Amino acid sequence: MSGKKSDLLAGQRALVTGANSGIGAAVARGLAMAGAKVVINYVVNESDAIKLVNEIEKSGGDAMALYGDVSHEGDVQAMFNQMIDAWGSIDILVNNAGIQRDAPFVDMTLAQWNKVMDVNLTGQFLCTREATKEFVRRGVVTELSCAAGKVICMSSVHEVIPWAGHVNYAASKGGVMMFMQSVAQELAHQKIRVNGIAPGAIRTPINRNAWETPDAEASLLKLIPYERIGDPADIAKAVVWLASDESDYVTGTTLFVDGGMTLYPGFREGG
Ligand code: NAI
Ligand code: BGC
Repeated sequence: MSGKKSDLLAGQRALVTGANSGIGAAVARGLAMAGAKVVINYVVNESDAIKLVNEIEKSGGDAMALYGDVSHEGDVQAMFNQMIDAWGSIDILVNNAGIQRDAPFVDMTLAQWNKVMDVNLTGQFLCTREATKEFVRRGVVTELSCAAGKVICMSSVHEVIPWAGHVNYAASKGGVMMFMQSVAQELAHQKIRVNGIAPGAIRTPINRNAWETPDAEASLLKLIPYERIGDPADIAKAVVWLASDESDYVTGTTLFVDGGMTLYPGFREGG
C-alpha cells in the first residue's frame, strides 16, 4: 500500500461501498493506512475485493470483503448485520458506490434513469440509515472519536455543474448534496457528522473514455485549471481527514477536490 501510516483512525471501523475499484479502493487503502478496520463492499468482481483485503492485511491492516447491492434494502441490512456481528459496531461510512448510464436526454430510458437513482441516491439513503441506527444506539465512545459517527457521501462536481447527456447522473448527485445536508442538519445534535466530497475528473474506470486516448485527455485537461487529471489517492486523503477528529467541527459541507474544475475555467480568458 502506498501513503503514510498513522493512527489517526486507530480502532475505528469503516465501511466503504463499491470499494473494489477506483476511488473506493483508494479510500479503503487510505482508511486502513490511518489505522481503521475496513469493510470492502462489492457487488461484482469479488476477486478484486478479496485481493484488496489481502493487500491491506499484508500491510498490517484489518479488512473484510462483504457482498451487497447498495440499492437493495435486504442486502444492505444483511451487510451491516454481518459487519456489526464481526466487529461490534461501525464508526465511519463512506457512501462511494456510483454509476453512470449516459444517454441523450430524449433517448434516456426509464431503466437508465431509475438505475442511476437507485444506486447513486437510494443506495446512499439505505446505507446511511443503517449506519445511523448503530451510531445512535452506541453514542460517542470518547477513546475512539469526538463524534458518534461519520458519514462521507461521494458526490461529484456535477452536484453543481449541469451535465448534458448525463441528466440522470447530475440529478442524482444534486440529490446527494441535499440528502447530505438534510441528514447532517437532522443528526448533528446526536454528534453524527455527515459531509460530502465532490471529486472532479479522477482517473478511474467510470470515465475511461474521457482520458484513455491522448485527444480525449487533452480535451479533458482544458476543463481542469490545475492541469492534471485527479488520482484516486487525492480523494482518499480528503476522506481520511473528514473521517477523523481533525475535521470535528465540519458537518453538512461539500469538500470539492477537483483541481479547480468548478472555477469556470473558460473565464480565465473569456468573459
Ligand atoms: P468505478 O466504476 O471505478 O467504481 C464504482 C464502484 O461502485 C465499483 O466498485 C462498482 O462495482 C460499485 N457499484 C456499482 N453499483 C453498485 C451497487 N449497486 N452496489 C454496490 N456497489 C456498486 O468509479 P469511481 O470513479 O471509482 O466512482 C466512485 C464514486 O465516485 C462514484 O460515486 C462516482 O459517481 C464518484 N465520482 C467519480 C469521479 C471520477 O471522475 N472518477 C468524479 C466524481 C465523482
Ligand atoms: C463523472 C466522471 C467525470 C467527472 C468530471 C464525475 O462525476 O463520474 O465521468 O469525468 O465527474 O466531469
